[in-house]
Amino acid sequence: MIQIPFNRPFATGNELEYIRTAMAAPKFSGDGPFTAECHRLLEGSLGVQKALLTTSCTHALEMAALLLNLGPGDEVIVPAFTFPSALNAFVLRGARPVFVDVRRDTLNIDETQIDQRITERTKAIFLVHYAGVGCEMDTVMPIARHHGIAVAEDNAHGLYGKYRGRYLGTFGELATLSFHETKNLSCGEGGALLINNAQFNERAEILREKGTDRSRFFRGEVDKYTWVDIGSSYLPSDLLAAFLRAQLEHRDQIQSRRRKIWEAYSRELTSWAEANGVGLPIVPPECEQSYHMFYVIMPSFEARQALISHLASFGILAVFHYLPLHLSPMGLRFGGRQGDCPVTENLSDRLLRFPFFTGMSSSEQNQVIDAVRAFRC
Ligand SMILES: Cc1ncc(COP(=O)(O)O)c(C=O)c1O
Repeated sequence: MIQIPFNRPFATGNELEYIRTAMAAPKFSGDGPFTAECHRLLEGSLGVQKALLTTSCTHALEMAALLLNLGPGDEVIVPAFTFPSALNAFVLRGARPVFVDVRRDTLNIDETQIDQRITERTKAIFLVHYAGVGCEMDTVMPIARHHGIAVAEDNAHGLYGKYRGRYLGTFGELATLSFHETKNLSCGEGGALLINNAQFNERAEILREKGTDRSRFFRGEVDKYTWVDIGSSYLPSDLLAAFLRAQLEHRDQIQSRRRKIWEAYSRELTSWAEANGVGLPIVPPECEQSYHMFYVIMPSFEARQALISHLASFGILAVFHYLPLHLSPMGLRFGGRQGDCPVTENLSDRLLRFPFFTGMSSSEQNQVIDAVRAFRC
């Protein structure tokens, strides 16, 4: 039986009070006072000119694909090692993914391979800051600017992580966040679109409100609202925003707890990793990570599977992560072939994530550490 889960949702203590307040209000559909407060907290803490809460990171990515007008005939550069949401976002619009391999150290898109994959059809780069460790933005952004293509940052993992002192999610024209229960800050299911280029502001509000100018109507800027564009319902209820506000207000405490847990894993497992040929996460000096996850790279697929079973025998759930997207059934339909992205293919088989959650106690973490140390490759 599992005693130490992979993730356990964390509550800061104010969530219920805020939800009660939201329920007592005359309305608790989208864009109420708690949503406005979350926007303010995100914009203020990150220094972005506009943040819009969404029902998920997946939906924020869909909004990004719509805002960038991606469509049939367009190509979008993506890392082969990521979550399908970023790809679905533009594949739904008819655009095609072009898979790029990842770096061996950070598992982020290999920036040295981007230029050679750009064609006259390339419209955007959708990258992910894996584990909240920044991509090599000093290389990516000049390439994008040189070719006149947009960058969207899937920052589901990296809220409050930094690259060269600047918050992740503030580099590309657009960026997305996830507040899914496994993320650092959460409201169960939720996300946000960060807009770094004000030219997208007005249309983003319209897309998010079913293709209508209802946001302008609510602000009293028009006397009726109507259907003005395509769109969907991407805004969450104010009840979810009430939960999220409590999390955003406690962001420093949450981040500092996660930092302690991450550092304890790193410190306590260094000798074991060296003795067993296991790789620990690498955070380049220019990156301040977000402490989203703790993973190891095992020497082989077999060793990874054996460690999963070993930990399960101690009641500990450890999980692997993304399968190579170019070799997924959908990736194959877009021309993916074995050997296209060798680093992704190799590391995906060997990566293992240990239980990592904000409320993890030292005793829980010590049980995981002891169980891991008892394993020999
Ligand atoms: C990198 C990345 N992007 C997007 C998502 C999807 O996030 P959401 O569940 O908020 O749609 C995930 C999910 O874990 C993810 O890992």
